[in-house]
Amino acid sequence: MPDSGGINAALALIQMKKLYLIGMGPGGSEYLTMQAIQTLKQVDVFFMLEKEGRGKAELLTQRQDILTHYLGASGYRVVMAASPPRAKTADYQNDVQVWHDQKRALFADLIRDELADGQTGAFLLWGDPSLYDQTVSLVADLAAHSAGQMDFEIIPGITSVQVLTAKHKIPLNRVGESITITTGRHAETCDPATLDNAVVMLDYNASFQRFTGQEMDIYWGGYLGCPDEMLVAGSLDEVLDDLLRAKSQARDEKGWLMDIYLLRRRQRDNSAFE
Ligand SMILES: C[S@@+](CC[C@H](N)C(=O)[O-])C[C@H]1O[C@@H](n2cnc3c(N)ncnc32)[C@H](O)[C@@H]1O
Repeated sequence: MPDSGGINAALALIQMKKLYLIGMGPGGSEYLTMQAIQTLKQVDVFFMLEKEGRGKAELLTQRQDILTHYLGASGYRVVMAASPPRAKTADYQNDVQVWHDQKRALFADLIRDELADGQTGAFLLWGDPSLYDQTVSLVADLAAHSAGQMDFEIIPGITSVQVLTAKHKIPLNRVGESITITTGRHAETCDPATLDNAVVMLDYNASFQRFTGQEMDIYWGGYLGCPDEMLVAGSLDEVLDDLLRAKSQARDEKGWLMDIYLLRRRQRDNSAFE
């Protein structure tokens, strides 16, 4: 059995694997921060997950374009892996739990098999890694159980929320008011009277239709920061039909749509659109 000096010497020889979770902004290469660009240059292996569903090719191409734009075509390795799909049964919580377990196992395999000791890997995460993206928690679990052999760092990114408000030229919150950031799943089922100022993400069912007739304004954005960017803003009651038409046309033309919106209840009968 080696003495403690021997063990310490052996431990010193273990070279830690490092993983960066890099916020890539909402699409285009101009939305990366300087910190993100500097970090790209230190990475040996980029992990890219191929997700099921329409739009997957375009979302991967956007990541590839970022690498080519900032790093050129060589000097790094790209490892592709199929992202496990989430089952869609009546038990949503269980589906998510199983899905996360599978993703964590996939990440563990990738780090073990594709990253040598002392090397640096990265995931390019859409927008900011902290917003509706569970990669951070899954990687944190792996690091906590790695006996000090793996570490990770988060490089913040510009979120789709920020691009939405910037493009519509509005502040996110009104004076002294809270802002809610929620999902289409919540907007679809909540009491509409409980949302006064809310950003809704991951909405696949146009749940804003539940909020008509209630003095609400909407600021909507599709494919923000991408070449096909679309913006619609106005009194919800007035723009509803145009918005539904624009969404369905975009889906027909491109086969997929990524959109986000801010719903805002008018105060004292004031609307930005009256
Ligand atoms: C899984 S969440 C990831 C959010 C991301 N981490 C961020 O910081 O924006 C995906 C949702 O974000 C919103 N989203 C992300 N990028 C977008 C974009 N370029 N245009 C419109 N919505 C976007 C959509 O609501 C989409 O359903």
